[in-house]
This record gives sequence, C-alpha cells and structure tokens, in this order.
Amino acid sequence: MGKYYIDDRYNDLLNLVQDKMSYAAHDFDHVLRVYQLAMFLAEDEESVDRDVLIPAVLLHDIARRLEDEDPTGKTDHALVGAVMVGKILQELGYDEQLISKIKDCIASHRFRSGSPPSSPEAKILYDADKLDVIGAVGIARSYMLGGRHGERMYLDIPLAEYMAKNVGENGRIKDVAQHAANLEFELKLKHIPDKLFTAKAKALAKQRLDFMYSFFEVLKQEIDGQR
Ligand SMILES: [Fe+2]
Ligand SMILES: [Fe+2]
Repeated sequence: MGKYYIDDRYNDLLNLVQDKMSYAAHDFDHVLRVYQLAMFLAEDEESVDRDVLIPAVLLHDIARRLEDEDPTGKTDHALVGAVMVGKILQELGYDEQLISKIKDCIASHRFRSGSPPSSPEAKILYDADKLDVIGAVGIARSYMLGGRHGERMYLDIPLAEYMAKNVGENGRIKDVAQHAANLEFELKLKHIPDKLFTAKAKALAKQRLDFMYSFFEVLKQEIDGQR
C-alpha cells in the first residue's frame, strides 16, 4: 500500500522489523507510513542518499518495544536502536561507512533527543516520524494508545492547571489515566511544526494541525451537547 514502493532488496530488513515492532502507535504500520512520508519529503531535498535513508527509516523504531516494556523508563529506544542496527547491518554485510550514517540517523530521531539530526537523511527521518504523530493519523494513534493506557476521551481543564497536576518536571505524564488526547495536543503536538527541519514537512505539518484544531473543537462541542 502507498504511493512509494519498497524495493525487494529490503525484504530481509522488512521481515526482521515486522517481528520486532511494538504495539499501537509504534507498530509495523507506523514504519510503513514513515517510509511513505520520508520518500515524499526526499523528493524536495538535495543530495539525499536513499541507501542511508531507507534502512534508517525501516529500522528506526526497532528498539521501541524494549523502551515500552521497560518499567524503569530508562531505555532510550533511539540510542539502543542505533546499537542494535549496527550489529544487524554488520551481519548482513553492509558497508561500515553506510552503517555509521544509518546509525547516526536512528540515534537522532527521538522527540526529546540530546543530539539533533544533522545529515539530510537524519532530518528527513526526524520530520517524517514527527508528521506521523499529527493529522488524522495523529488523532487515531492518540486514541489507540489512550485506549491501551486507560486515558479519558476528553478533559476540559486549563493547560496550566493540568500541567501543575499531572506533568512531571521531565515532561512525563504522572497518571496516564488522567491524560487525554486533547491535552497531548495542547502540550506537545501543536508545537511540532516549530521543531521540523525541512520546508516541505513544515507546510504539511501546518495542514495536519489545522485538521486537528477542527477535530478537537467539534469533539468538545459534541461532548458539551452543542451539536
Ligand atoms: Fe522512535
Ligand atoms: Fe517512529
């Protein structure tokens, strides 16, 4: 499915990733969506090495399940993933220089990453991955995760009050059962366009956010009995 075909030479990576992905927002479908977005963004960027970008996209969340299943919250799937990917690609006989560029993209793809993406391929992966958190897909993803975590559908509370109550200093939600997609939107998702690198992703992000603003407005009206 999708506009951009994945070359057969990546079948071994696809099979491997399919087994290792996490649930809901970070399942294999997320990888396929990020691939479509990355190829779309790459069309407008100069000197993109697809031999770096494609493996980086396919493998970027390979350690996400380890992070999701770590009760201590200390696993950083971007850093752990980069190490895992190094080993996987070495076993598959990839060139060392290529491996180091792919690892670099994966290490810097995280939302709260310490090291920002620097290469064109790393910036595209970062932007494509963030675009998948917003728009209609972003709403659907929020509710897939929210259902799993026992979140509320909608919480009508001023953001400052909510933050004082339920957001820790590190930005983590203290009690997920008192979280909701509209608050996630207010806290994080609506700021995504400011964090992107490529012009094409920024434009797309604005469109996706417009849709989210309308969605949450209508949702509130329906809940309030106004429509
Ligand atoms: Fe990730
Ligand atoms: Fe991702």
